[in-house]
Amino acid sequence: MVEFSPDTKVVILTGAGISAESGIKTFRASDGLWENHAIEDVATPYAWERDPELVWNFYQGRRSQLKEVEPNPAHQALVILEQYLGDNLLLVTQNVDDLHSRAGSKNLIHMHGELRILRCEECHETFDMMEKEHLTDQYVPCPSCSNQRLRPHIVWFHEMPFQLPEIYAAVEECDVFMTIGTSGHVYPAAGLIDVAKQSGALCVGVNLDEPMNYELHDEFHQGKAGELLPNLVNEWLS
Ligand code: APR
Repeated sequence: MVEFSPDTKVVILTGAGISAESGIKTFRASDGLWENHAIEDVATPYAWERDPELVWNFYQGRRSQLKEVEPNPAHQALVILEQYLGDNLLLVTQNVDDLHSRAGSKNLIHMHGELRILRCEECHETFDMMEKEHLTDQYVPCPSCSNQRLRPHIVWFHEMPFQLPEIYAAVEECDVFMTIGTSGHVYPAAGLIDVAKQSGALCVGVNLDEPMNYELHDEFHQGKAGELLPNLVNEWLS
C-alpha cells in the first residue's frame, strides 16, 4: 500500500473515468462519445477544415453540458490530497471538462485543452467564453482581432498536447505516479507511466477496468473512482 508524507512528490494523471460519475460520457465505453461520432469526423484539424459546423456543434454541445454537471467525490478526494501535499502534488488531466478546478484543485495541467476556452487561429489569443451567447450554434468572433470564427481550445488528434516539458519533468522527479479513470489508449499520456517507472516511482492505478498499461502498475484498485478514492485518500493520509 502506497504511503504518503508531506514531502512525497506525486503526479496524478486523470482521464474521462474520473468524470463519469458526474454524468460526462467517457470515450471508449460502448455508449461512449466516440460511439456517436467518429473521432476523425470531429476531433482532428482536418475535420475542422472539412466540416467546421459539425465540429463546432459537437463541441458547443459538450461545452453547454458543463453547466449541468458537478464535481463528484473523486474530484473532491484529490483536492484533499492536494491540501496535504501542497506543491508536491501535480494533477495532469486529459479531461477537457472543468470539474477538477471547480472542485478546488490548483496545481492542474489540462494537457488536452479545455472546453471552457476558445482560441483564435489568427492572433492565437485564448478566451474563457461560457456566457449564454457563447454557447449557441453561431460561431464566436474573436474579441481581439477581425477573425470571425474562434476554434475550441482542444488538442485534437495529430496535435501536440500542452505543457509536455513541465509534465515530463514532474514525472521524472516523482515518488508516486497515479493513473485514475484512463484506459491507457492515447499517447503521449499513456506513456507517462513508463517514464515514471524508469524514474523509480511507485505506480498506482484506480480504474473501472484494467487499463492497457495495467501491468506497469505496482498497485491497482479496480472500481468506480467516486466510490474508491475518498476511502483510499483517507487511508493514505491516516
Ligand atoms: N471510475 C473509474 N474509472 C472509470 C469509471 C469510473 N466511474 N467509468 C469509466 N472508467 C474507466 C473506463 O474503464 C476506461 O478505462 O475510465 C476509462 C476511460 O477511458 P477512455 O474513455 O479511453 O478515456 P481516456 O482514457 O480519458 O481517453 C484519453 O483519448 O479520445 C481521447 O483526448 C481524448 O483525453 C481523451 C483521451
